Amino acid sequence: MAPFKVKRVGILTGGGDCPGLNAVIRGVTKPAIEHGMTVLGIIDGFEGLVEGKSKEIYNKDVSGILAMGGTILGASNKGDPFHYPVEKDGKIEILDLGEEAIKNYKLWNLDCLIGIGGDGTMHILNKLSLMGMNCVGVPKTIDNDLDATDLTFGHDSAIFVVSAALDRLHTTASSHHRVIVVEVMGRYAGWIALHGGLAGGADIILLPEIPFDWEKVYEKIRQREMQGKKFSLVCVSEGAKPKDGSIVQKGHDIKRTDPVQLGGIAEVVAKNIELNTGRETRVTVLGHVQRGGTPTPYDRILSTKFGAFAIDLVARRKFGRMVSLRGNEVKNVKIKDAISKQKLVQPKTQALVAARAVGISFGD
Ligand code: F6P
Repeated sequence: MAPFKVKRVGILTGGGDCPGLNAVIRGVTKPAIEHGMTVLGIIDGFEGLVEGKSKEIYNKDVSGILAMGGTILGASNKGDPFHYPVEKDGKIEILDLGEEAIKNYKLWNLDCLIGIGGDGTMHILNKLSLMGMNCVGVPKTIDNDLDATDLTFGHDSAIFVVSAALDRLHTTASSHHRVIVVEVMGRYAGWIALHGGLAGGADIILLPEIPFDWEKVYEKIRQREMQGKKFSLVCVSEGAKPKDGSIVQKGHDIKRTDPVQLGGIAEVVAKNIELNTGRETRVTVLGHVQRGGTPTPYDRILSTKFGAFAIDLVARRKFGRMVSLRGNEVKNVKIKDAISKQKLVQPKTQALVAARAVGISFGD
């Protein structure tokens, strides 16, 4: 029997949004239509897959969206079909609605689902694949913490924001002889702090991977003062913690697969620096500014390459695979292998070694 030809593809953007999502949707849709396929956009990520919310996507829908931030399909990070929050009698119940997802996939006559997302999305795609769904993954996250790809799209845009913010904070910190502590995203991986801090000339970078020693942080600030530099920039990752302390959480949301909401470490770091060095200190939390807005040219190119490669995998019926960047080349890996490990900053990571070489302190 001749292998079946893919005629209809579903596409969704899982988890939080990220610059470059629309560029991927465009990168998938245009060639898909050229291949004679139809494309169904699933609304609000996996929530739409469970609840049956979708819309057809035509060429005109993806025209002019290359540089647009966010996602034209909508996003939700509370829609994991296998951990689905449902309100009952004023209480939240968590249900396994994997079968609902499969039911809608069949109802929509889909031959394949392209899921664009991070670690959480790849876990869900893996489970759906095991239930018989044809899935292809495209790796997205500003955090860059997926091990099976050298880079995720969105990361470059996020570090562009961090470095631009540090450039601006540099002038005001130096004018007022202050320490400014900038908190950046990244969850349990320090890539945004490391790359953004390095690009923006931070003096101290604090990462989740390197629990810091308070005394080393104060020492660096005092050392700079002795050199006549009466200001310092500290770039702290939201997941960083002191050697003798723990991660700072700002919330807990059981509707999400990972309920932990990080945030607040910059306030703690700033308070201790002011107390122990006597230097006036301020805090800037960059928050969702890092996720919003237009993708950088690098991310637009990477997203387009990822999208076009994903539809090529679909046309060749290479299901259960995730698009991945290795060096400068786009390749693919098994989704199940992509979720086996998180990518964290290592002691030998070149950017870390280079940062140390130019005198940046990691508080260790
Ligand atoms: O994973 C991307 C990310 O932006 C993290 O860096 C951050 O901790 C989290 O999402 C924030 O999630 P939310 O948008 O739900 O606050």
